Amino acid sequence: MSYTTIAPISGHLKITPLNAPLGGVVTGIDVSQPPAPSIILQIKKALCEYHILIFKQQKLTDEQLLNFATYFGALFVPPDNVPVLESASGIISNVVIVSNQEGGSLGDGEVPFHTDHIWTPYPSSASFLYAEEIPSEGGDTYWLNLNLAYETLEEEVKQEIANLQVITYNPLLREPGKPFSSYRSNSHIPVTHPVFPHPLVRTHPESGKKILYLNHKTEVEIVGMEADKGANLIATLREHLYQERFYYRHKWSVGDIVYWDNQSTLHRREAFDSYSRRVLKRVSLAGGKPF
Ligand code: OGA
Ligand code: MN
Repeated sequence: MSYTTIAPISGHLKITPLNAPLGGVVTGIDVSQPPAPSIILQIKKALCEYHILIFKQQKLTDEQLLNFATYFGALFVPPDNVPVLESASGIISNVVIVSNQEGGSLGDGEVPFHTDHIWTPYPSSASFLYAEEIPSEGGDTYWLNLNLAYETLEEEVKQEIANLQVITYNPLLREPGKPFSSYRSNSHIPVTHPVFPHPLVRTHPESGKKILYLNHKTEVEIVGMEADKGANLIATLREHLYQERFYYRHKWSVGDIVYWDNQSTLHRREAFDSYSRRVLKRVSLAGGKPF
């Protein structure tokens, strides 16, 4: 009896930092093949340093995307009673179709700066997004460095927010007809679904860096703070967050994979023409309880 073994690819991996507040481009790797242990470790280290990594000109099946992603962690699985974006399509799959085509999630509109799954008890640690079809214009994705956003806060603001906990309300459990709110001020009305407060300033579980852990628009509430004061503080922090010096804008090409640290970044998607096709595949990895 003979066995054939697939030798892991250990070629010449190169990671080139982008001329941007975050991000590195990874070359010298075919992601469809199993990478050597040293390559996996290099990529892990680079993600910690650059927050997002971009792989160009890849060609993958869903299975190959899952294979590659899971070298870096177990798959994210939302609790049954906490819907996430992909729950709306009725199919919870390990490979999420992010597309304006039938069966896809997110449509063609703008998606404001957010980190995935922040309203769940254990938000995902990282995600991979692989571009299969891309419109000729629009639909760029921006990633924002939340460590930089934290570091550039005034010292007194850092002290003020050091120990605060924030509830991010699940946008998929909004009461029908309720107007959009960026801060929950009607706290006398009981919430009918479970909520999971997280530190407003979280610590990255590997690098130890401090992160301003806040979505740009999703409805939030600071635990134990008077509503007006909380709303003002959140508005100030959000104004600070959204600055060009903190983000990188990614213009997609077919075959790109962006691997992002979902603990230390926000991402935002531009709108695009509804008549063009945009199809990406996402795999998200499990994360721990933020601290
Ligand atoms: C996501 C997401 C943005 C995009 O998949 O979580 O926000 O560019 N995607 O499609
Ligand atoms: Mn997202």
